[in-house]
Parts: sequence; C-alpha cells; structure tokens
Amino acid sequence: MNHLLEVQDLRLNFYTYRGVVQALEGVSFHMAPGEAVGLVGETGCGKSVTARAIMGFIEPPGRIEQGRILLDGRDLLQLKDKALRGIRGREISFIFQEPKKALDPTCTVGAQLMEAATVARGLGKRDAEALAMQTLGQVGLGDAGRVMGSYSFELSGGMAQRVMIAMAVVGGSRLMIADEPTSALDVSIQAQILRLLRRIRREQTSSLLLITHDLGVAAENCDRIIVMYAGRIVESGPVRAIFRSPAHPYTERLLRALPAPGKRRLEAIPGTVPDLVAPPPGCRFSNRCDRATPHCSRERPPSSEIGDGHAVACHHPVIAPVSAAA
Ligand SMILES: Nc1ncnc2c1ncn2[C@@H]1O[C@H](COP(=O)(O)OP(=O)(O)OP(=O)(O)O)[C@@H](O)[C@H]1O
Ligand SMILES: [Mg+2]
Repeated sequence: MNHLLEVQDLRLNFYTYRGVVQALEGVSFHMAPGEAVGLVGETGCGKSVTARAIMGFIEPPGRIEQGRILLDGRDLLQLKDKALRGIRGREISFIFQEPKKALDPTCTVGAQLMEAATVARGLGKRDAEALAMQTLGQVGLGDAGRVMGSYSFELSGGMAQRVMIAMAVVGGSRLMIADEPTSALDVSIQAQILRLLRRIRREQTSSLLLITHDLGVAAENCDRIIVMYAGRIVESGPVRAIFRSPAHPYTERLLRALPAPGKRRLEAIPGTVPDLVAPPPGCRFSNRCDRATPHCSRERPPSSEIGDGHAVACHHPVIAPVSAAA
C-alpha cells in the first residue's frame, strides 16, 4: 500500500530524576495520502509525544531509542537539522493546542504567512502576499487586510487557530498534525474549527493526524482511529469497525464513557494510566482490565489483524459487537 507516513517500532524514553519514563514502546502505524487518522487515548498515553517525534521536536531529557519515521520512504530520524527544518512547514505542519503561543508575537500575521509562502514555495514578495490574502479568505478570515496587519495578541483564540491553519495551507503541506486543536477554544468555536480543518483537508488533499482525547471528535473527522494506551497502540481500525466492534477492552471502556442521547450516566474507566517509570510488565492495561488473566500481566500481547485494516493487541479481545456504543 502507498504510505505517506510510516512510523515503525518507535521507542522513546525520558530520562528524569524519578527514573526512565518509557513514554513510547514499539509504536507503529501508517497513514495514506489524503487520509485522516484520529489518535485517541486518555491523558499521558503518549499522543503528543508521538506527534512531537514526527515533527522532530524531541529534546533532552527525551531520547528516541529505536524506530523509523518514514515520510514518503525517507527516514526523518536520519535527517540533519537543516533538512528537517525544510520539511517542517513545507511538507508537515503542526497545529497547536494554543495557537497564540505558537505564533510569533513580534511579527504581524501577514509577515509570518508571507515568510511561510516564500520559504515553502519560493514565491516573490508580491505573489506571497497575494497567496497569504487569498488563504486568509479561505480559512474564513474575511477582513484579510486587517488580519495581515495584526499581531497574534490582537486575535481571538478562534482567529489565531484559523491563522495557524492558514500557515499550513500557505506552506502546501501534505500532512497536517493537529494536537487537540480545539480544546483551548470556546465550545461554540470548536465545531467551526473542526469543520474548517475538514474542508481544508479536502481542498488541499492533505492527510490529517488529529490528536484528541474525544473519540466522538475523532469519529466525526477521521477515516481511521488509532487508540493508544500507556505508550503503546492497543487498537486501530476504520471508524466504523472501532465503534461497531471494538476489540480491545480499553477501547470498549472509552466508548462506554462517551456521552450519548438517553444515556444518564457516563462510565468513567476505573483506575488511572500507570506510571510509565514502572509500567506493568505484559499488557499495560492489565491492572485495570476486567478480562485480564495472569498471562496478561506477564506477556505483552502482539498486535493481530482481526478485520480489514482492524488490528488489536490483546490476549482476550472482546468479540461481541457493542451495539450500545454505535
Ligand atoms: N519532557 C518530558 N519529560 C518527562 N516526561 C515526559 C515529558 N513529556 C512527556 N512526558 C511523559 O510522556 C508520557 C506521554 O505524554 P504525552 O504528553 O504524550 O501524553 P498525551 O497522550 O499527549 O496526554 P494529554 O492528553 O494530557 O495531552 C507521559 O507519561 C508524560 O508524563
Ligand atoms: Mg497531549
């Protein structure tokens, strides 16, 4: 199959005074061109660390111990800083949770967009300005002239996130990574931004890796879902397969925790994500799992295909479809 991005067996540790945080352990997944993939899981599962590794943002005390991150077959982990900088913004762009912090407070929006257009597309000043203006319109910032002359602190959170998305469009990137792109925004703005991301992805035919702790958001915006737990991928598959027949007990619990019409009580998952300095041996979910046997706490379950593009890493996967979650 044709992969735009392929992450292979990624292992990443943080060397802290408390000990070695085993943040990612053998994470592997791929994305096809134009595909939208949702990366979900509770807090501390390793979603942001995965995104940062792809962007080349891992700094000490973090260290990538093993694995490959292939973009069109080229291993990003083998690239020198300069080559990696060339890829950021041009081929992969990152949409942050707090867009105002990600924009340069000392430059106008226009200057930043024009810089992105110049660097990524080699445009002259006049063409870069025209593209920046046009893109601001495309992301729903009608008064483009005024926005061009604004500084990030003059923008609302929603406007700043639209500017971040415009940066991705101007750079023409083929992969957008959005880490909780709406969780810092007002609820009323969240849906607008997600709708915009969907439209831009179609127009640009770029891929989207959408990081969210909300399975509902992932389902609405993605083709496929990857479920992470404590630094590992426990299940992945098409949205429909994940919702109709979740196979990992953790996925099932996440689905049961989703709000739904007529549901009175949301079922929180008992317990917490384990401390990654000393994670349980074997399956990392075993100490919270009601299907676990002694074998689970000893042996790491391998990932196996259980359907078309649907894979699970569990010794005792759930077989029966869960209709209540659909
Ligand atoms: N700079 C760091 N130093 C030490 N540990 C870190 C560092 N950054 C992340 N970690 C650890 O790596 C693990 C994964 O963190 P990560 O931020 O990827 O979680 P997440 O899934 O994005 O959670 P959230 O939903 O809260 O954003 C956590 O155990 C976290 O404590
Ligand atoms: Mg995060």
